[in-house]
Amino acid sequence: MIDFLDKLEKNSHEIDRFLDQHLPVGNGLNSKLFEAMRYSSIKSGKKIRAFLVIETGKFLSVINNKIISGSKYKELVTIASVIEAIHSYSLIHDDLPAMDNSPIRRGKPSNHIKYDDHTAILAGDALISWAFETIGNGNLIKDPQKRADICFILAKAIGPNGMVGGQQADMDFNNQNNLSLEEIEWIQNHKTGALISCCSHLASILLDANDNHKNILINYANHIGLAFQIADDLLDLEGNEEVIGKPIMQDKKNETPNFVTILGKKKASNKALQVSNDAINLIQKFQYGSENLVSLAKYTVNRNY
Ligand code: IPE
Ligand code: IPE
Ligand code: MG
Ligand code: MG
Ligand code: MG
Repeated sequence: MIDFLDKLEKNSHEIDRFLDQHLPVGNGLNSKLFEAMRYSSIKSGKKIRAFLVIETGKFLSVINNKIISGSKYKELVTIASVIEAIHSYSLIHDDLPAMDNSPIRRGKPSNHIKYDDHTAILAGDALISWAFETIGNGNLIKDPQKRADICFILAKAIGPNGMVGGQQADMDFNNQNNLSLEEIEWIQNHKTGALISCCSHLASILLDANDNHKNILINYANHIGLAFQIADDLLDLEGNEEVIGKPIMQDKKNETPNFVTILGKKKASNKALQVSNDAINLIQKFQYGSENLVSLAKYTVNRNY
């Protein structure tokens, strides 16, 4: 586990470097926006989505007996950083008073507390635009067909039939205890799972994965997404605020239905474990290369942060 946490930390430094180099800076009339975009994305968060992009790419290279070239690796880092920028946008908006109304994120004041509501809304909007500007940039992702495919799959994953659709249902069905387990799973797969499975999908496009490998990796990532959100819901109940860097009991306060509220702690935690094991079984069929993805699946459900 310590070895895995080391790898995760190294990965997050690499993503921070990319974000620091590429996010806008300047002293113009919009400089507060630039500052707010950087505040919520650089040097914060575990960056497990970025890790998943890069490790999917490495895994594909191992199982196909190929070596990732330096330029291909840089493209993976670009995609990983873009995904983290999108994730940061989703959290900035998720914390707004109109949504979860949460004052602390990643151990510091949430974006709207540090700045103000309009800056938090606009910083989120700007991170999305920056993300598409970045993966649409031919200097960063060379192959025009891959650029187009990556933009298309990312837009689909985070839009009305993906992450944002899930967030809409999550908000609309607050205070409702009559949701079925299937409906809860639908919400979680959309609000959280869509972006996480997109990580493996985009890396598969970049690395020219065949359909079989691509489907296995997307399926693996779908399981990671669900297990990850159930673990997040458990941490909301029994996590340590200092460690997780955000307030606990948010779901209770907002009456957000989830596996824990419906099934109780024990059954929800068993479900997370089972989903994580299913993820592991999917990739352990391969003889080599799956070690870091297996560790990620274990970490997903065995984390205190
Ligand atoms: C928090 O995601 C929101 C969920 C979708 C569960 P993370 O737990 O990955 O948050 P950071 O990026 O590490 O802060
Ligand atoms: C957030 O889920 C999902 C997205 C931002 C898309 P949560 O509301 O459970 O995340 P936390 O607990 O605030 O990090
Ligand atoms: Mg929320
Ligand atoms: Mg929230
Ligand atoms: Mg939560």
